[in-house]
Amino acid sequence: MKNIKIVATGKYVPDKIVTNDDLSKVVDTTDEWIFSRTGIKERRQATIENTLDLAYLAANDCIKNVNYSVDDIDLIVVATITQEDKTPSVANLVSGKLGIKREIMTFDINAACTGFVYALEVASSLLSSGNYKSALVIGSEKLTNVLDYEDRNTCVLFGDGAGAVIIEKTIEPNQANFINRSRPDMNEVLTVGKFIHMDGKKVYQFAVEVLSKSIKEILETNQLTIDDVDVIISHQANLRIIKSVANSLEIPLEKFILNIEKYGNTSAASIPILLSEYNNNQKSRVLMVGFGGGFTYGAAIMNLERK
Ligand code: ACO
Repeated sequence: MKNIKIVATGKYVPDKIVTNDDLSKVVDTTDEWIFSRTGIKERRQATIENTLDLAYLAANDCIKNVNYSVDDIDLIVVATITQEDKTPSVANLVSGKLGIKREIMTFDINAACTGFVYALEVASSLLSSGNYKSALVIGSEKLTNVLDYEDRNTCVLFGDGAGAVIIEKTIEPNQANFINRSRPDMNEVLTVGKFIHMDGKKVYQFAVEVLSKSIKEILETNQLTIDDVDVIISHQANLRIIKSVANSLEIPLEKFILNIEKYGNTSAASIPILLSEYNNNQKSRVLMVGFGGGFTYGAAIMNLERK
């Protein structure tokens, strides 16, 4: 248990909307196939923005939303699998774009769609070490850069965007807890090289198994029931996956908030984008849960109390 809470949220999605009908002109697919199999209606495509721009714009939104002083941030972690360059990291360049004057710790994390949950645990642990006070944690992806528009199995599923949060230490004890793990993907079931390749059915089965397991385990570890959390923020990959998890755990679907219809799968950005769209006026306990390539998976329970 860590004494950490979320104090600000923000997001940025590009303006360009690509509908299922638009994609049906590019590959052999239909709106009916995509929507009935995934729950996706449309997704965003970055035209001029790169992964760094998306990350910066989400961070800026997060900071502006609560009028946060950038000089209070002393750690930036970005979760991404679509950074343009191996170095400098996206986090390093975000600190420059935000105009942070002090020399602070910045780095990126690669854990595919679970990247944001991994980044939250890493940043929370660093804050708990006592050496840092305030961390900006971002998930940012320009997945359209790694889509093969000749592969209808994958190109209809993903979109671009970024989400960000600021986390701080709190005097209230036992505020945050995490599970983050991985299962070796030795048979290359889900890879991202030049393009995303995956065996959709195997990923689907993995997703339902680990999302259910992670939700159950993090509640049990914290001696909580589903009624003790206000909302479940699950990685948005496929509505059928979420329905299946809700069904197997006997959790009402209304406990999950959803935006897959608008953005598709935005990998590490999906959880923070959803969190920023969660309108709550008071303190909420949120359960975040994700899965992804590298066969990563993880869950987090944290309090969200915007400044
Ligand atoms: N339009 C029309 N037909 C299609 C399309 C499409 N866009 N894509 C695939 N098909 C066809 C296939 O060619 C196949 O045809 P065939 O049987 O003649 O070979 C058939 O549809 C497959 O249909 P289903 O078996 O019914 O598909 P399924 O219900 O398994 O849905 C899907 C496929 C949506 C990919 C699903 O398996 C899924 O969501 N898997 C999880 C993917 C995921 O969540 N990935 C996230 C991780 S990403 C990351 O970490 C970066």
